[in-house]
Amino acid sequence: MSNEIELIKDPGLPAHVHRSTDTDPKAAARAERQVAILFGLSALGTITLIYSYIFIKDDVFVFIPILGQTHLQQLGIGLGMALALFCIGAGLIHWAKTLMPDEEVIAQRHEFRSEDEDRSEFIKTVKEGAAAAGLGRRPLIKTTLGAALGLSALSPILLLRDLGPLPKDDLSKTSWKAGTRLVTDPGDRPLRPEDLEVGAVAQTLPEIEAGAHRSLADIGKDAVLLIRLRPEEFNLDAERLSWTHEGIIAFSKICSHMGCAVALYEQQTKHLLCPCHQSTFDVTRAAKVIFGPSARPLPQLAITVDADGYLVAQAPFNEPVGPSFWERSS
Ligand code: FES
Repeated sequence: MSNEIELIKDPGLPAHVHRSTDTDPKAAARAERQVAILFGLSALGTITLIYSYIFIKDDVFVFIPILGQTHLQQLGIGLGMALALFCIGAGLIHWAKTLMPDEEVIAQRHEFRSEDEDRSEFIKTVKEGAAAAGLGRRPLIKTTLGAALGLSALSPILLLRDLGPLPKDDLSKTSWKAGTRLVTDPGDRPLRPEDLEVGAVAQTLPEIEAGAHRSLADIGKDAVLLIRLRPEEFNLDAERLSWTHEGIIAFSKICSHMGCAVALYEQQTKHLLCPCHQSTFDVTRAAKVIFGPSARPLPQLAITVDADGYLVAQAPFNEPVGPSFWERSS
């Protein structure tokens, strides 16, 4: 029995082996220089990143074996960031392993919340540890660490530029203005009211001059759905009714929730449906939202016909098209 108790006795910790930096001042000074070099390299990496971003033109390429034809600016940014992050991490680890206090501590398990006395003891220990880390006594490490950390904070700020400019009111302006003809998409054919039967839907765009080009952004903002009902089916006030023509009503095709294309029309119910999150708009009530996450109706384009009998816009959209947060960007 006494032999069994011997077997499960706590063997305790092996004898603590001190590091050379604890006993040899020269080793400590060498480790300090190594840490400083790593922090210095980190700062150099960040400077490389910033230099590459600002001064290297984005159309310069270099040939690198294995990688082949490589974009020099991207290479500089990538290598700079890698060097900055790797060296700052390696420097911190090396500092902790060679120069920070090397004590073995046994923590007993306690209740989840420590006693107040233990908590204040902990705070005292942390403060002592911070003092023992010797930042005050090691100005070289302090300076290079400050430079490395300070510069590394600059790179994310710099890269924010790549998010591009704020859209301001660009997104609230479309190509529609008074007198712009509605043309088929695709086909660019001007539309007359008689081209649409009752119950029909058509996607249209604003007419552009011959040879002119539409950007994708313009197509996204300008797309309009035309729907033809019987005039008596509308449930609109006099102003909104005057924006329709012989039962034809026009709405932005871009969902006012997150900007998907509102592409489904239920002829029986006269509902427009956005396939992304199922926002449902009632065509008879000026695209009022009757279901789903969208917070506002689809913007309506007031239409009429010109002297030649073609459908034209009476004015630009009554409000910005697309998700509501576009409006808040200006
Ligand atoms: S984008 Fe249309 S419902 Fe979300």
